[in-house]
Amino acid sequence: MQQDRRNKPEAPLHVALIMDGNGRWARERSLPRVEGHRVGVSRIRSVLELMDAHNVKHVTIYAFSTENWNRPQHEVSGIMAVLREVIDDETRALHKIGVRILHLGSTHRLDPDLKEAINHAQDLTRDNTRMTLSVAFDYGGRSEIVQAVRGLIRDNVPAEAVDEDLLARYLYTPGIPDPDLIIRTGGELRLSNFLLWQSAYSEFYTTPVPWPEFGPQEIEEALRSYHKRKRRFGAVDPGD
Ligand code: IPE
Ligand code: IPE
Ligand code: MG
Repeated sequence: MQQDRRNKPEAPLHVALIMDGNGRWARERSLPRVEGHRVGVSRIRSVLELMDAHNVKHVTIYAFSTENWNRPQHEVSGIMAVLREVIDDETRALHKIGVRILHLGSTHRLDPDLKEAINHAQDLTRDNTRMTLSVAFDYGGRSEIVQAVRGLIRDNVPAEAVDEDLLARYLYTPGIPDPDLIIRTGGELRLSNFLLWQSAYSEFYTTPVPWPEFGPQEIEEALRSYHKRKRRFGAVDPGD
């Protein structure tokens, strides 16, 4: 277990991944898009292991957005089926290596069976400390903020008491540090409704490599790019 960050002081604490490009990867191989999702999901664990080797303690993956419901019914049910097929085995394997699993998003549109598997994954891995994997599934940054505002109103919080820290506690991510680095595979240059609040000062990296081909080399490259950045958080560097 790696708890010591001193050897790699620059390692991002939290890396968030927009796993894009599955469909195009499959179509280029004349495969149905859902095969791209299947291969994509099968790559997640090895990416987590590589992140762990780089001392990353939090990984968030964007797996299904609130807008992805607008895809053809057969693709949506294909994605749900792939997740249902792998979730129990993946949960067991991740539990074995000490990964805590969290779900970010809503569950009310999911099949009860899948909902139960998600709850089980969270319960089983609750006390793991090696790494936290947050899975954004039926997640949208705007709907996350809306449900946070609803929570504040439901709790009768007076307007004057609302500040950034309090609002953040009503999001899906209390206790999770903001992502230091957001990586998007598949070449697009947008957030697509991902972590809108939490990404305020995240560094952004995109690669044309589609998610099913994302591996050690691309991770090294993304981290190398991250290490070169100067994060100012709106301030000026000392001496400038
Ligand atoms: C990302 O891959 C996975 C999901 C959005 C569920 P895509 O399915 O968006 O793949 P492309 O962008 O069409 O290639
Ligand atoms: C973003 O990818 C969502 C996920 C990776 C889950 P999309 O493929 O849905 O994003 P757009 O439509 O290209 O913006
Ligand atoms: Mg896409």
